[in-house]
Amino acid sequence: MHGMGWRRVAERILAIAGAVCLPGLALAAAACEDDGLERRCFDWPNPKPCESGSAGTGSTDANAACPSEAEAGAYFCENSPEYLNGKKEDGQCCYDVNYGSGRPLRIDGAVHVATVKAHGGSIELPPDADAALWLRDGLAEHASIASFSRAALELMALGAPLELVEACHHAALDEARHARVCFAEARRRGAHVTPDRLEMGASLPLARTLEELVASTFREGCVGEAVASAILFERAAATEEPRLRSELLRMAEDEGRHAELGWRIVRWGCEAGGEGVARVLEDVASKVGEAPLDGFLAPARFREVERSVLRDVVGPAATACAQPVT
Ligand SMILES: [Fe+2]
Ligand SMILES: [Fe+2]
Repeated sequence: MHGMGWRRVAERILAIAGAVCLPGLALAAAACEDDGLERRCFDWPNPKPCESGSAGTGSTDANAACPSEAEAGAYFCENSPEYLNGKKEDGQCCYDVNYGSGRPLRIDGAVHVATVKAHGGSIELPPDADAALWLRDGLAEHASIASFSRAALELMALGAPLELVEACHHAALDEARHARVCFAEARRRGAHVTPDRLEMGASLPLARTLEELVASTFREGCVGEAVASAILFERAAATEEPRLRSELLRMAEDEGRHAELGWRIVRWGCEAGGEGVARVLEDVASKVGEAPLDGFLAPARFREVERSVLRDVVGPAATACAQPVT
């Protein structure tokens, strides 16, 4: 599945993870079978308008059907999740919520993305589902820039090797390029917007211990970026337009490298932090299937890809950590 490109990335991840060498680490197989989607309901037809002013255009008909799954994100514009399996329940529209793939910017557990503003003219609502999806991905990629910037600061505060700090800055620039690609694709489809403010609160919390760093890196780097890479390889294989296919392939390679970086950070954290960090890694690895991840494929196909990454790469990589240190 996902072709040679993804297999090369997976082999590199497994080679890096195999050197982590932690006692007692195992991925709970049951977790891989758990979709773990969050269910969220909204008042309809009066949804909370998007702060950018680009949404909240619901009908005043109380019997109005809920927005389609593809349109719901554009209507509600809240943290850029994907809304799945929508249906009316007690006068509200309820969806399974699926957050963005890759490395999100989480602050106190919530995924943050920027609002949007007009790019060279007035804001236009995405005219089709494809534009909304590119816009959603663009915002997620844009937020990943901040996530890697924060990771670089956390690594510096914890005394990490310079090459890891440097790699985070390179990765942040990759994410900036991904954001530009996604916003350009959204504009090609009529969504003439660009990122605006990315709300981070009065102070941005940083991981202050190796345990915190390893836990967040495992979830967002080792898992999130690996799934993002596999999804992008799959999307590239399904894309006929050469220009778009080569952009998706380049992004897939980048996300694979970011997953490898995640494992390098975890490996360093475990070597530096010893048994306490190993226990934290064991705990987050056992819960990995509970965290919803997101893609740009039909939901059912996305679940297949996600499960295969967890089963074939993240699981064996975590198991490899159980080998004694050599
Ligand atoms: Fe990215
Ligand atoms: Fe990434």
